[in-house]
Amino acid sequence: MTMAMSIAQFTFFSRATSSSFLNRTNARFNRFTFSTPFSTADATCTRKKNGRLPVLSALELGGVKIARDDVVRDDPTNNVPDSIFSKLGMQLHKRNQHPIGILKNAIYEYFDANYSNKFDKFDDLCPLVSVKQNFDDVLVPADHISRSYNDTYYVDSQTVLRCHTSAHQAELLRDGHTHFLVTGDVYRRDSIDSTHYPVFHQVFVASHYLQPPNFFFLGFFLRFWSIHSYTLLLEMQMEGFRVFSPEEWEASGLDGTSYAAGDLKKCLEGLARHLFGAVEMRWIDAYFPFTNPSFELEIYFQEKWMEVLGCGVTEQEILRNNGQLDSVAWAFGLGLERLAMVLFDIPDIRLFWSNDERFTSQFTKGKMGIKFKPFSKFPPCFKDMSFWINESFTENNLCEVVRGVAGDLAEEVQLIDNFTNKKGMTSHCYRIAYRSMECSLTDEEINELQRKVREQVETKLNVELR
Ligand code: DAH
Repeated sequence: MTMAMSIAQFTFFSRATSSSFLNRTNARFNRFTFSTPFSTADATCTRKKNGRLPVLSALELGGVKIARDDVVRDDPTNNVPDSIFSKLGMQLHKRNQHPIGILKNAIYEYFDANYSNKFDKFDDLCPLVSVKQNFDDVLVPADHISRSYNDTYYVDSQTVLRCHTSAHQAELLRDGHTHFLVTGDVYRRDSIDSTHYPVFHQVFVASHYLQPPNFFFLGFFLRFWSIHSYTLLLEMQMEGFRVFSPEEWEASGLDGTSYAAGDLKKCLEGLARHLFGAVEMRWIDAYFPFTNPSFELEIYFQEKWMEVLGCGVTEQEILRNNGQLDSVAWAFGLGLERLAMVLFDIPDIRLFWSNDERFTSQFTKGKMGIKFKPFSKFPPCFKDMSFWINESFTENNLCEVVRGVAGDLAEEVQLIDNFTNKKGMTSHCYRIAYRSMECSLTDEEINELQRKVREQVETKLNVELR
């Protein structure tokens, strides 16, 4: 199962989310700047014994101040927790000495060198987008699971935290861009894990795409029965897009779609070689709402096939709706963390968010070959909790509560037991692993976290603790 899962990987494209303040900031070219008050190293762990970053009261989007209360509200149409608000705008991809920034720059370098600087680059588009941008503009069906509150962070019924950088395709096309790269943070509601790749998450995600409805149920089934669920609340993504005019393919004797598909594959194979060296690659047919045909590129790396990105020839409807009547185009989307984990040997996704100098000091601007040397890891501490679930219970909601209390100290939430009694009541037992990357946690600290988790699980999720 794990093997099968690893094929599907990072392409959730899954969920995401606009409102009155969107009108103010109105999307697209809002520059997203943010000054982080917690930039110092944390080797002594003094900052956050509960694993959470301090919650800011405001940040800046495109020169407009956004108050926390604009994004996190006690309102049924809002499901953005403080833990997510505190991560908004951290902009890992803009730190030139950070693995994510180094990788982004290496990809820019490839496109600049091979396309004479023709690709326009956007790396500070506001992550708050309208439902239209995130879903409608890229043809995500109205009943697609990714639109649910369980999968996407909604600021209100019309505004979401983007779940993929594809959310910016339409506006950039309308603005006349024909070659572009968009890098940014994307948000998805999901479960918690830490030490592995977000494989399961990704399968679930990909399952949304693979010919609904059957694969949706497969995804659900896998998720339900798999012991592990993986966290990727926040991922750094890059979208690439290239438009061709008729003269470009007519001379080749091919039709527009075949021409674009061939060019796309050539471009991405070159990118993979630029990043990974001489690797074996293969193309897998895929499904995305916004491209047809669609593909995934896998590379053989460290004795495993690993998915690197999703891509395809853009649906004509997207081009037509956005002022590109006679053109064809290709697009791709890739997850920067998973590539960076492989390229820099980074074992735990949480490290990307760490300000610990033992992590940050290991990387150098412009240097791709560096391998991360792990620093001592503190042992995990496990706590179990059982409760009778109700009809509205979801693992994502449980994980949100755990994360709300323990922040990054919650390494994994695992379903370890599950039964239904004669009265038809279903019990779940979850094992929570607490671990700090940066210091040892005392028994008292863990017990206090677990006490709070239990309390909030009971009150917020309305379940009966056992
Ligand atoms: N938006 C997809 C995701 O987040 C990734 C993707 C796949 C982007 C295929 C594309 C594409 O532009 O053509 O999972």
